[in-house]
Amino acid sequence: MDDFFRLTQTIIFIIMTIVIIFGVTVFFGAPYVPSLSSELTKMFKKLYPLSKKDLLIDMGSGDGIVLKVAAGFDAQAIGIELHPVFSFLSRIRLRKLKSKTKVVCRNYLDFPFPPEITVVYTFSDSRDINKIYQKIESEAKRLNKDLYFISNGFEVSGKKYEKTYSSFYLYKVSVGKNK
Ligand SMILES: C[S@@+](CC[C@H](N)C(=O)[O-])C[C@H]1O[C@@H](n2cnc3c(N)ncnc32)[C@H](O)[C@@H]1O
Repeated sequence: MDDFFRLTQTIIFIIMTIVIIFGVTVFFGAPYVPSLSSELTKMFKKLYPLSKKDLLIDMGSGDGIVLKVAAGFDAQAIGIELHPVFSFLSRIRLRKLKSKTKVVCRNYLDFPFPPEITVVYTFSDSRDINKIYQKIESEAKRLNKDLYFISNGFEVSGKKYEKTYSSFYLYKVSVGKNK
């Protein structure tokens, strides 16, 4: 009976841990599902040629894979991740790329973009994609600068994308004249 009780407790503990690690952000935005590294590499050649001139922001950076791939193109990259566990794990993952990458543990909708930003990436969901687009529009206006936006998996309703490759959509968010 004791063994059964302990086993039940252990199972409940494991389930709670999984819910806390992977489930918390469901209430705020997209849950954790990583982009594929090989697809990202192809996309940063074919859809948006990333280079050392770029500063990329990944809105919801998860395990940091996008930042790692971006650093491989010599670009600077900042990840904004709400979940403290993913923020911590991605900082460990990217420790050798500290000069090129940074992870901020914060809600991406409250993060002011730095003036050097050129391109924003997100792998979000249908619920949040329009809010993210609006945030990029307002930052483009504030910085008085056109920005590129890559959305993995989700189109922004009512906005025309410039190009598409595989599951990625490329938008140009122009100051003052967003289509
Ligand atoms: C689908 S994952 C994408 C991870 C990574 N960008 C990639 O492409 O592999 C979405 C991530 O966004 C994070 N997230 C969701 N809502 C957020 C918010 N409001 N602010 C910051 N991060 C958020 C989640 O914790 C999750 O790690």
